[in-house]
Amino acid sequence: MKRFVIVGTQWGDEGKGKITDFLAQKADVVVRFQGGNNAGHTVVFNNKKHSLHLLPSGILNPNIMNVLANGMVINPKALIEELEKVKNFKLMISDRAHVVLPYHLELDKAGENSKGGKKIGTTHKGIGPTYTDKASRIGMRMSTFISKSLMPKALLDLINKKNQELKEFKVKPLSYKKILKEYQNYANIIRQYVKDTSIYLNQAIEDDLIILFEGAQGVMLCLDHGTYPYVTSSSPSAASVPLNTGIAPWLVDGAIGVTKAYTTRVGEGPMPSEIKGELADRIRKVGNEFGTTTGRPRRIGWLDTVILKHTKRVSGLTYLAVTLLDVLTGIERIKIVTGYKLNGKIIDSIPAEIEDLKKCIPITIETPGWQEDITKVSSYKELPEQAKTYLKLIESIVGVPISMFSVGPDRNQTIVIKNMVGEA
Ligand code: IMP
Repeated sequence: MKRFVIVGTQWGDEGKGKITDFLAQKADVVVRFQGGNNAGHTVVFNNKKHSLHLLPSGILNPNIMNVLANGMVINPKALIEELEKVKNFKLMISDRAHVVLPYHLELDKAGENSKGGKKIGTTHKGIGPTYTDKASRIGMRMSTFISKSLMPKALLDLINKKNQELKEFKVKPLSYKKILKEYQNYANIIRQYVKDTSIYLNQAIEDDLIILFEGAQGVMLCLDHGTYPYVTSSSPSAASVPLNTGIAPWLVDGAIGVTKAYTTRVGEGPMPSEIKGELADRIRKVGNEFGTTTGRPRRIGWLDTVILKHTKRVSGLTYLAVTLLDVLTGIERIKIVTGYKLNGKIIDSIPAEIEDLKKCIPITIETPGWQEDITKVSSYKELPEQAKTYLKLIESIVGVPISMFSVGPDRNQTIVIKNMVGEA
């Protein structure tokens, strides 16, 4: 595959960053195509741990071009904070990407607080309100944001309008003057990177470059195919890449679906495979299951193959990458969810109605766990038989070959079974 997508197959946090970082070593271009700084993963550079939220994983490699494509919503302040930590990078920002402005953050918080028991549990980064403005055709694109002549008036109109909305939530009005001054400074820094990235990407395809499209979040958080309304406001699926980057659909070669060896979720909403108590606490602790963006403890569940089959169907998955396999070490019997019972009937797909999904009781199979430390294995062969059986079960139930798995955070703890990038 020369142009491939990294897809989160669950509710995000599958370890996509690590897989992307690993595969980016072979890429010429890394592209983020949706979401904004609601995403996050930790990378180590200059001997320091840094959280990347907006920047693509190729940003640490001076030879890789990093693209923030038109499907993204970009908070300029957050972007500049991230850029200040990196040196020698290549970056391009789409002139059609939408800009997250301070009122989006205020409206996100206020909207959530007003929902009481029905809140989504958003990251409060203003993502939903920015995409809402895009769909309402009142958003600000990068092309306007960097325009010295157009931006001041556009911002004034928007702040006047949004201050009215904030008033309804009893939130203090925002100061136009203050925001203008601050955001003009950001625009001055960002301007040099803003381009028509579709033109660049189509040329890169003609030049036969290897392009990695880096998804954020996971397909269960997709606005269309996720657990609506407990979703984000964009589509993390492979199917969203062409639209959100400006290339033809048939130019994408395939998708690598990243799945944890178990399931996690942050925020509200049903999660049929959820487990609680001592075992969940142990997995949370060993897997360090706390949000990179918000620090919230993640909810824990068994691997749910109903979800993986759903993701395979709606997004397309050429291969699977299984992460955090080591976290399951020491568990005597490992469960896998293979279906749900809903109103007395057995189903193996995700109901559209959230009230139905809440009622789904998981159907599971069990397989023996392993006790050996697997964090140092360097090949599939070295895995204990039980771990091999677990991977084979996933492969056969989901019907997608596993191309790689990981047993720890380091690059050398990611093990390739089948080399899929750059192959004919
Ligand atoms: P928003 O994207 O901030 O609007 O949040 C909507 C939902 O998506 C909430 O349940 C968030 O917790 C979830 N979410 C957003 N980004 C991520 C992510 O990167 N990982 C996991 N969950 C996320």
